[in-house]
Amino acid sequence: VGHERAEFLTSLFRSIKGFPKEGINFRDFMPVLENAEGLQIMLEGLEKALPIPADEFDSVAGLEARGFLFGPALAARLGKGFIAVRKAGKLPPEVIGEDYTLEYGTARVEVEADAVSRGERVLIVDDLIATGGTAKAAADLIRKCGGTVAGFSFVMQLEGLSGIEELGDYPTSTLVSMP
Ligand code: PRP
Ligand code: ADE
Repeated sequence: VGHERAEFLTSLFRSIKGFPKEGINFRDFMPVLENAEGLQIMLEGLEKALPIPADEFDSVAGLEARGFLFGPALAARLGKGFIAVRKAGKLPPEVIGEDYTLEYGTARVEVEADAVSRGERVLIVDDLIATGGTAKAAADLIRKCGGTVAGFSFVMQLEGLSGIEELGDYPTSTLVSMP
């Protein structure tokens, strides 16, 4: 994304200090979706900034809940399918799961056992990377299912947390970054 577009996207994130608990400066992504131009800029930006060429991955995986809000739209733009990585307890058996730690708690993600085929190359997307715990759990889960992690795309990166380093050596793109 160009500098002006990146600044515009950044300006759409709303910041709430002390939510959901003290010490967290919550970056609210919903205003990006609510803004018609913001939504376009975000989707175009993610497509242009793909960390690898579109012919080098087979599908897009998104994380509940915020990764569900644009992952399928991005996948459709790219002519790919979408894999829903859900929070625990929502999908019927058989599922494959992975536990992880979050900036403000612990959680578990799950996918349907047959959601990923062997060797399928998967791009993982989410609105935001903070500690990287969620994205790493999604990557571990994709690998547990027999897939290959092709890379990661985030809209927002939180500075000062080593989220991207936590992911290991994968092609990664982020559109904007904030403290
Ligand atoms: C947020 C965000 C990412 C994750 C990033 O989701 O959408 O998925 O936290 O944090 P991390 O890099 O420290 O793991 P959250 O778990 O709050 O759930 P939500 O998408 O359902 O709001
Ligand atoms: N997920 C983890 N940390 C977050 C933050 N500071 N704002 C919004 N979502 C988050």
